[in-house]
Amino acid sequence: MSFNLSLQPEQSDEQIYHDLLPQIKALLDAQDNIISNLSNFSAILKQAFTKISWVGFYFFDGEKLVLGPFQGNVACTTIGMGRGVCGTSALQRETVIVADVHAFPGHIACDSGSNSEIVVPLVRNGNLVGVLDIDSYSFNAFSATDKKYLEQAAQFICHEILQTDSIF
Ligand code: SME
Repeated sequence: MSFNLSLQPEQSDEQIYHDLLPQIKALLDAQDNIISNLSNFSAILKQAFTKISWVGFYFFDGEKLVLGPFQGNVACTTIGMGRGVCGTSALQRETVIVADVHAFPGHIACDSGSNSEIVVPLVRNGNLVGVLDIDSYSFNAFSATDKKYLEQAAQFICHEILQTDSIF
């Protein structure tokens, strides 16, 4: 299968997300397998945004966050609740944007080149499922625009997961 992202050069983040979300939805609708979909979801975001150095999922196993499908360098496999940016977002169930990860107390540096990060929680029927984690080598790479669209994308993902018995 070939999938061509139809994006124009020099597009703003707003325009990229606007064009990308229907393509993501079509991609996810075409396949039922959750692992395939989470993998391609990570790939399509990394492909669309040059600012992204790492994108992927951590899933809540009832105790801690466990690494799921991702694109980027090798990452730590487990994160405790309340630990790092991911554990903080998971605990608070709120999107966390960090403009400078070096200034975030307890930030977990999987890749020493990472300078900023956004983490969006995945919540299904009031239950924590996991988080979507995105890193950048640039400082201050993520804005309210990323938050708005990634939270919408997280809804797609949660809808997909809803049709799956369990990630584990
Ligand atoms: N920086 C994250 C850890 C995961 S990696 O970025 C892939 C954190 O502080 O939770």
